[in-house]
Amino acid sequence: MLAIIGGTGLTQLSTLEIVRREVARTPYGEPSGALTFGTLSKKPVVFLARHGYGHTIPPHQVNYRANIWALKQAKVSAIVSVASVGGIRADFSPGALVIPDQIIDYTWGRKSTFFDGGDQPVRHIDFTRPYDEALRQRLLGAAANAGEPVFDGGVYATTQGPRLETAAEINRFERDGADLVGMTGMPEAALARELELPYAAINVVVNCAAGRASSEQGIHFGDIEVVLQEAMVRVHNILEHICKA
Ligand code: HPA
Repeated sequence: MLAIIGGTGLTQLSTLEIVRREVARTPYGEPSGALTFGTLSKKPVVFLARHGYGHTIPPHQVNYRANIWALKQAKVSAIVSVASVGGIRADFSPGALVIPDQIIDYTWGRKSTFFDGGDQPVRHIDFTRPYDEALRQRLLGAAANAGEPVFDGGVYATTQGPRLETAAEINRFERDGADLVGMTGMPEAALARELELPYAAINVVVNCAAGRASSEQGIHFGDIEVVLQEAMVRVHNILEHICKA
């Protein structure tokens, strides 16, 4: 069973036929909300709204460990994350969909591992390729079948938030090699790897990153809303096709 973690703009999956909701308990506390079990294109899926169903949990307060643990407990086979981002690379303009292939983590102070010492042996996961390549290919295939153009690959910079970046920070991220910037990619991806759950993402570019192109003078949330709504229709289409395949 596939899990979908929806971010800003995807607090519910309108095409999901809901079977039941389950409030999961984990050793790490409560997930962002109840797990919603249902079917998409007649296949079982479970959906979780990363920021809560009322979109009240900011990126640095999301209980990433509880979310990933709850999905593991629900015996999901893989996780697709949907997350909105700012575009740093010039061709990652608002409305673009990207299936990223790398991550740089600039977050701090988040609970970012299940291997937290105590009576557990020290463990270091391999994270050379942070996204599961087979799942990435499934997403690319689903996008092709859905007739939705997506970019294959991109380096996702994860910032702490909840504020947006300064123009100088974006310049720095670009010098570091980042193409996209968001606030939730980490530790989510690493936690999934720790529990050996294949994880990949669909990133929706909703704005040019701070100081770039249309964001030269600032980032306006009114514009983001419009882009997000249009892009989510395309994301739904891809998700339906990944379930069909
Ligand atoms: N920066 C960080 N996170 C984001 C952005 C951004 O510009 N847009 C959407 N999520």
